[in-house]
Amino acid sequence: MTATEPRPTTNNVGIPVASDNDSLTIGTNGPILLQDHYLIEKNAQFNRERVPERVVHAKGGGAFGFLEVTNPEIANYTKAALFQPGVRTESLVRFSTVAGELGSPDTWRDPRGFAVKFYTSQGNYDIVGNNTPVFFIRDPIKFPDFIHSQKRRADNHLRDNNMQWDFWTLRPESAHQVTWLMGDRGIPKSWRHMNGYSSHTYLWENAGGEKFWVKYHFKTDQGIDYLTQADADRIAGEDADHHIRDLYAAIKAGDHPSWTLKVQVMPYEDAADYRFNPFDLTKVWPHGDYPLIEVGRWVLDRNAENYFAQIEQAAFEPSNLVAGIGPSPDKMLQGRLFAYPDAHRYRIGANYTQLPVNAAKSPVNSYSKDGAMRYENTADPVYVPNSYGGPHANPAIAGETASTYGVEDEVIRSAYKLHAEDDDFGQPGTMVRKVFSDEQRERFVGNVAGHLRNDVSEPVLERAFQYWKNVDKETGDKIEQAVRTGGPAYEK
Ligand code: NDP
Ligand code: HEM
Repeated sequence: MTATEPRPTTNNVGIPVASDNDSLTIGTNGPILLQDHYLIEKNAQFNRERVPERVVHAKGGGAFGFLEVTNPEIANYTKAALFQPGVRTESLVRFSTVAGELGSPDTWRDPRGFAVKFYTSQGNYDIVGNNTPVFFIRDPIKFPDFIHSQKRRADNHLRDNNMQWDFWTLRPESAHQVTWLMGDRGIPKSWRHMNGYSSHTYLWENAGGEKFWVKYHFKTDQGIDYLTQADADRIAGEDADHHIRDLYAAIKAGDHPSWTLKVQVMPYEDAADYRFNPFDLTKVWPHGDYPLIEVGRWVLDRNAENYFAQIEQAAFEPSNLVAGIGPSPDKMLQGRLFAYPDAHRYRIGANYTQLPVNAAKSPVNSYSKDGAMRYENTADPVYVPNSYGGPHANPAIAGETASTYGVEDEVIRSAYKLHAEDDDFGQPGTMVRKVFSDEQRERFVGNVAGHLRNDVSEPVLERAFQYWKNVDKETGDKIEQAVRTGGPAYEK
C-alpha cells in the first residue's frame, strides 16, 4: 500500500476507530465515557512506551551492515563460519556513551560503546567492545563501584569529579584508561571517526584443533578525528544528538562508513610467560609483539526503520560465542558473560531473543518455552531426552571449544598473577611519552587540569597529582602546576 492510499485508523486489534480527534462524551460539554475503549487503549499504551534505559550505555544510536572476509588466511586461526574465506555476514552495531542517561549529550568525554552483532550461519556472535583497547578496572567485583563513581551522587543527584578522581586514584589500574580518556580520543569527532576494540582477549580454535588468543581491532577507514573539549561543550548545547544525527545522515546520503577488521593473534603457549598478563583488561599487547592481521571489511549501509524496535531493544551479550571462538580467563569478560543476558531479561523481558533484531537468522531449536510475550510456538516434545524426534545436542556440530583452556588450581580470592612487566603505570607512561605528540600532550594536560579544577578537593587532589607523576613525572608536574597556579587548562 502506498502512503497516498487512504488507510483507516484502527485500534490494536484492527477495529476501525470512529475518530482520531474527539473522545466519546455525553453531549458536547459532558464527561468522557469509560466505554471509549480506543481512548483508553491509546493512553494506556502511551503510559507504557518506555522500557527501562540501559543501566550503563543508555545513550546511543546504531545501524545495520555487513562483514566481508578479505583475508582467506584468517581461517588458519579459527573455524568460526563468519571468518571463513569470502564469507559475508549481516551485522548490527550500537554506538553509545557510558555514563550519561538516555537524553545526555553525545559529546561528553567518555569511552564510546562499540557493540557489534553478527548474524552468522552458526548463530549470533556479538563483540561488545568499546572505542578503547583497555578498561578502568580488571575485576568485575568493582564494576558497580566504578559506575557509581561516574554517575550521580546520592544527595544532590549531580555528577561529581571529586567522586571520579577519588575512585580512580584509589584504584591505580585505572591509569591507562584514564590517560586514554583525557587524550584526544576521549571525545571522538563522530562515531564514524573512531576505532573499535574487543578490548578483551578471546580464544580461537581452528579446524585442526589448534588454539590461539586473539584481540579484535576495528580500524576506521574514515580516519581518527576528535573534538576539543571546548568544541564538545559547545556542540553539547547546540545539538545533544550530534553523533546520532551524523551517522544517520551519512548512511542516508549513501556515504557508508566502513572499518577494516584486524586481529592480534597470540600463540596459545605464549600466554603463560608473556611480559604482560595477556588477560588483564588494563593492558594492551604492543603491536610490535603481536602485529595486526587483516580479517575483513565491515560496512554500515542501512539505517534502522524503527529506532525503538531495532536499536533501543537491541540486546548484545559477550556470551554469544560461536564454534571456533571461546572466552579467555579475563575476569572482566567472565563477569560480563553473566551480566548482559541478566540485564536484558530485566530490561526487555525473558523472551528478548524473539525480537527480530535479536533473533538469530540460523535455525533456533531451543527447549526454552513460555514466559511473558512468548509468541513462538514451542512444539512437543518440550523436554530432552525424548523418543519423539525433538532436537538433540550434537557436540560435533557445536564444535565445542568454549572453555577448553587448561585450569587446575585452588579456589581463592586474589589479584592476577603479575607477569614480568606488569604494573599500573608502565603502559600509560608509554602512551603519554611516546604515542602523544607535543600538541596532544599539551591538550592532555589541559583536559586533566580542567577536570581537576572542577570541584576536586583534598585529599583527592594531592593523590591525583601523584597518580599522574607515577604515569610520567614531567607531565604530572605540569598538571599540578596548571591546577595550583591557574596555568593553561581547559576550564568548564
Ligand atoms: P604502537 O606505536 O605500535 O601503537 C600505538 C597506538 O596508539 C597506535 O597504533 C594507535 O592505536 C594508538 N594511539 C595513537 N594516538 C593515540 C591517542 N591519542 N590516544 C590513544 N591511542 C592512541 O605502540 P604499542 O602497540 O607498543 O603501544 C604503545 C602504547 O600505545 C600502549 O602502551 C598503549 O597505551 C597505546 N595503544 C596501544 C594499542 C595496542 O593495541 N597495541 C592500541 C591503542 C593504544 P590504533 O592503531 O589502534 O589507532
Ligand atoms: C552495556 C555490564 C564492562 C561495553 C552494559 C550493560 C550492562 C553492562 C549491565 C547494559 C546492558 C543492557 O541493558 O542492554 C558490564 C559489566 C562489566 C562491563 C558488569 C564489567 C564487569 C564492559 C566493558 C566493555 C563494555 C569492559 C567494553 C570492552 C559495553 C557496551 C554496552 C554495555 C558497548 C552497550 C551495549 C549496547 O549498545 O546495547 N554493560 N559491562 N562493558 N557494555 Fe558493559
